[in-house]
Formats: sequence, C-alpha cells, structure tokens
Amino acid sequence: MATKTSNQDIKEYYNKNQILYDVFYSKGTDGLHYGFWEKNTRDHPESLRNTTRFVAKCLKVNQNDKVLDAGCGIGGSSIYLAKKYGANVVGITLSDIQLKIARKKALKFGLQNKVRFLIQDFTKTSFDDGHFSKIFGVESICHAEKKIDFLNEAHRLLKKGGMITIADGFQTRSNLSDKENKIYQKWLKGWAVPNLATVDGFHNDLKKAGFRKIKYYDKFNEIKKTRDRIYRLGIFGYPLTWVLSKIGIFSKNMHDNTLSMLCQKKVFSDVNNIATYGVFIAEK
Ligand SMILES: C[S@@+](CC[C@H](N)C(=O)[O-])C[C@H]1O[C@@H](n2cnc3c(N)ncnc32)[C@H](O)[C@@H]1O
Repeated sequence: MATKTSNQDIKEYYNKNQILYDVFYSKGTDGLHYGFWEKNTRDHPESLRNTTRFVAKCLKVNQNDKVLDAGCGIGGSSIYLAKKYGANVVGITLSDIQLKIARKKALKFGLQNKVRFLIQDFTKTSFDDGHFSKIFGVESICHAEKKIDFLNEAHRLLKKGGMITIADGFQTRSNLSDKENKIYQKWLKGWAVPNLATVDGFHNDLKKAGFRKIKYYDKFNEIKKTRDRIYRLGIFGYPLTWVLSKIGIFSKNMHDNTLSMLCQKKVFSDVNNIATYGVFIAEK
C-alpha cells in the first residue's frame, strides 16, 4: 500500500521536526540532506558541505545565474551559492518555520539582496516562463507524488540551455517482498515522502518533460557513513521520542521520524538493495 502525502503533511513534518534537525543534524551547515563522504572527508559537517558543493559543480553556477532552490529547507544551499558564486537565488519551501529561519540567515550574512525565500509549491510556482538559468532540488523532489509534475514545472521555468540537478534517493527495483515493502513504507511515511522514483523512471520523466543531455551519478557509497550516523541517532532517539510523544511533549510525527531513521538503513542497504542515492543532471 503506497503512502498518501499531502503538502499539509509535508509542512507539518518540517514544522515539527525542524528543531530536531537543528539540534542533532545540521551542525552549523544548515544542510538537511545526506552528506557525501569523499576520500579525505573528516567529519559530518564537511560531508554535508560536500553535497552542496557537488550540486554547485554540476550546475556550473556563476554570478550571472538566477537559481531556483526547489525545496530549500532552511536555506543552507541557497546561501552557499549566493555567498560563494554571487548568484541570485530564490529558495522555496512549504514550511513557514523553515522560511523564518532561512530569511534570518540571509539577513545575518547581508545577503538579503541576493537570496529570497518564499513559500511556494515547486510543482506549481508563480514565476514566469524562463525565469531561471539553473534549478536544483536536494532531497526535496522525493516529496512530490508525481515527480514529473516538478520536472514539467522546472522545464517551464528554465531558459533554453538552462540546467537542472536533482540529488535524491531512488528506488532500485520495484519487486519488493512483503517484508521489504513494509519497511520501505514505514520509512517513507515517517519522513512524509509518498514514494521514490526509480532511477529509470526518473530518467524517462526527465526525457518526457523535454530535458536532454541527461547524466546520472550514483552516490550510494558516498552516503553510507551518513546513513549509519542517522541510524545511530535513531537508536538513541527512538525510545526517547516514544516516551515524549506518549506524554504529549513531542508530536507523533516526531516519533515517526525517529522510526524512519532506523528503517532508512534497511532501505539504503547493499544487502536489501531497495534504494540508492544519486544525482541527475540535465539541460533544457
Ligand atoms: C529534506 S528537506 C531538504 C532541504 C534542503 N534542500 C537541504 O538539502 O537542506 C526537503 C525540503 O523540501 C521542501 N518541499 C517538499 N515538497 C515541496 C513542494 N511541493 N514545494 C516546495 N518545497 C517542498 C520541504 O519544505 C523541505 O524544505
């Protein structure tokens, strides 16, 4: 049974859980994504920055770019691109709590003229055709029920020759056993994700939306250490959030989040091979 996830569910998930990300995860990087552990990566914050750097490199961001950060979280990647490359960036999210934090950060860095944060749905935005030269989504497009709805909108928003990059989880096969599917669905539900696209399905959707020069980089090996870190946080967090949700201090979705932290290790696993992590790049 696939999970139904509305924009309201996603908003509530991030509004309630942002505090947990701040305290236990982002570690001064403002990144709410898996880190890429490269050869000489020393620690978790560096791995988080590596993910953003990789995306920036894929997009060849420069100071003339108008960039859309589709699903910007608390704005870590948007601010990085404005600061490092002088690009103009718009970050959109569904969460008003994230919006407030992101706007505060932009002010703190004096980047309010370079970076704007807005509440918008990346499958139906208010921007004009061809408004952006680059678009990216880091672990956000997985939240779309139909990924092609985002890809069609991104194609409309990009100017000719514009580039798109998506870093996300992708299902590797659809023939899951009942046991595998149970873990997979639990994981999806706890993180307010309706489904993952398969690698091939996403590739086809990019083509259908009109993108060309499609490339895919598998990053599964690079995210394993983050996966293990999230799992360890889950072991510690699961009993704690269970108690706190029973006595009404934490919400149920905060406890479901910690259950997903445990399940993700079985989903992103060499043994089960249910999902992988990858980065797609394409051009309009
Ligand atoms: C896991 S967070 C990733 C945040 C950020 N990309 C990062 O790497 O730190 C997912 C983000 O996607 C956003 N999101 C999910 N569905 C969205 C939609 N339909 N429109 C806009 N943002 C969306 C959420 O609000 C959240 O900010």
